[in-house]
Amino acid sequence: MKTTGIVLSLAFIMGCSSSGHEEASAPPVRATAVEAAAGIPDSEIGLAPGTAFEQPPQAPIKFNTVDPGDSEVRVRPNAEFPPVIPHSIQNMGPITQHENPCLDCHNADVAEDVGAVAVPASHRMDLRNSPGVVGDAVTGARLVCTSCHVEVTD
Ligand code: HEC
Ligand code: HEC
Repeated sequence: MKTTGIVLSLAFIMGCSSSGHEEASAPPVRATAVEAAAGIPDSEIGLAPGTAFEQPPQAPIKFNTVDPGDSEVRVRPNAEFPPVIPHSIQNMGPITQHENPCLDCHNADVAEDVGAVAVPASHRMDLRNSPGVVGDAVTGARLVCTSCHVEVTD
């Protein structure tokens, strides 16, 4: 009996001291984050069904396989919008400082011959250094065509 009493009181004291210790050392930021997480269930964050940790299976993207010349230019939402690339760009090499496969067809001096749309004057104007002056070559800021023009996929 006496031993049980001592064990119980020890457990009580230890319980108190351990919880007191946690409260004293936990930084306030962490306590706030824990409270917030407890307040909003994970399944109610965002509009997607399920929780943010569930990844629904996604169908692989089918890239465009239509060759340039066989596709048709798409209607643009407005004139300021970079038109989408209606043809495949899968077998073209990467765009580098010295090589640009797009310009093989879209450069103003060849476009008409290959039936492509020529790069517009806006792409040959260096807005930072000589605004208003249309040069012959595409400016550096426009060189990486795919940073603005995206390929049509399914
Ligand atoms: C072999 C020639 C060729 C190459 C290389 C090529 N294109 Fe094209 N591109 C065309 C032709 C031709 C069209 C017109 C649609 C058609 O006939 O398929 C076109 C259409 C486009 C259009 C639509 C223009 C509009 O007015 O809507 C964009 C944008 C475009 N290409 C961007 C690119 C980019 C970016 C690259 C490089 C990744 C590229 N093209 C490489 C021939 C080419
Ligand atoms: C910084 C974004 C940007 C980059 C980079 C860019 N374009 Fe464009 N492009 C546009 C926008 C915006 C338009 C539509 C407005 C205009 O004509 O300036 C356009 C229009 C075009 C058109 C349609 C021209 C017409 O007369 O209808 C072609 C073709 C084109 N770009 C090809 C290219 C090619 C090829 C490259 C790479 C050498 C390229 N673009 C790089 C933004 C960009």
